[in-house]
Amino acid sequence: MSSVLQKLISPQAGSAAEPPRNKVTVVGVGQVGMACAVSILLRDLCDELALVDVMEDRLKGEMMDLQHGSLFLKTSKITADKDYAVTANSRLVVLTAGVRQQEGESRLNLVQRNVNVFKSIVPQITKYSPNCTIIVVSNPVDVLTYVTWKLSGLPKHRVIGSGTNLDSARFRYLMAERLGIHASSFNGWVLGEHGDTSVPVWSGANVAGVNLQKLNPDIGTDADKEQWKATHKAVVDSAYEVIRLKGYTNWAIGLSVADLTESIVKNLSRVHPVSTMVKDMYGIAEEVFLSLPCILNSNGVNSVVNMTLTDDEVAQLKKSADTLWGIQKDLKDL
Ligand SMILES: *[C@@H]1O[C@H](CO)[C@@H](O)[C@H](O)[C@H]1NC(C)=O
Ligand SMILES: *[C@@H]1O[C@H](CO)[C@@H](O)[C@H](O)[C@H]1NC(C)=O
Ligand SMILES: *[C@@H]1O[C@H](CO)[C@@H](O)[C@H](O)[C@H]1NC(C)=O
Repeated sequence: MSSVLQKLISPQAGSAAEPPRNKVTVVGVGQVGMACAVSILLRDLCDELALVDVMEDRLKGEMMDLQHGSLFLKTSKITADKDYAVTANSRLVVLTAGVRQQEGESRLNLVQRNVNVFKSIVPQITKYSPNCTIIVVSNPVDVLTYVTWKLSGLPKHRVIGSGTNLDSARFRYLMAERLGIHASSFNGWVLGEHGDTSVPVWSGANVAGVNLQKLNPDIGTDADKEQWKATHKAVVDSAYEVIRLKGYTNWAIGLSVADLTESIVKNLSRVHPVSTMVKDMYGIAEEVFLSLPCILNSNGVNSVVNMTLTDDEVAQLKKSADTLWGIQKDLKDL
């Protein structure tokens, strides 16, 4: 007696289907990891999604919940396991795992604890996907991108930090709101270190090619009567504000990571502000990762745009580089 399946379907292709071409792995199924996963799924960016975490029940629950949405998605396979074998042949790995800062804990101590966590993650990623590109999202992102690069042995263009991609998105939204236009029509870049010391590049801020600094030479400075500088301060403060209100931030970072993912898996060569190795640029002597406008395509960071920065903007980048190296140089076991 043949089964319903045998009666219904007659196989034609003799061999198994080809392996996935655009497999994406998300490591860490917390709020940020799941926002990245859902954003990537909704934009149809992968043909297979793998999730990894150490919390097995949560991991299985998230996998099942997404699988139940299969009818509404175009990603044929969603898998999850605590064993990294599930990630094999990933094109892109989004790293959102890591421990959070405890009250009164120094940044060095936090990073060192994350080094120990990453040592159990990064070699497993590269073991199963030796040619992948990694996007590091965990904070402090610039230092942890350096840590991932060191632990992975991957070439520098294959390890990217989400960096100031989100800071820039917040800046563009807030500036555009003040101008009454859509965020995509305000062109402005926030570079350098993600977070409190990020650098808004006022010298390049423009709408339709009209440079705002030409209209108001004081823009972005304390002397500015219109206090546009407050917009960048709001960018810095907004992360704390969202955390105070809802406990974490996740949607905007998830959407911004999906945007980076699109440029990489579709080989678009679009320019994004992401964290990359900046040694020998702008007079920076150490191996630190900071955000610059990077051309992202199937190589990862294919190239970096050489910005025409003011002396003051370069000085701010160098200061961030010194701060980061101050932490990195004392890390153990890298
Ligand atoms: C990785 O890339 C190298 C060089 O392009 C190639 O020889 C190798 O087969 C690739 N490995 C996998 C697992 O795809
Ligand atoms: C990606 O795009 C670049 C230039 O736009 C092209 O040279 C390269 O062949 C493309 N790579 C793939 C894998 O399609
Ligand atoms: C980048 O541009 C500046 C001028 O804006 C120039 O002095 C510098 O040499 C350029 N850097 C590289 C790596 O070409």
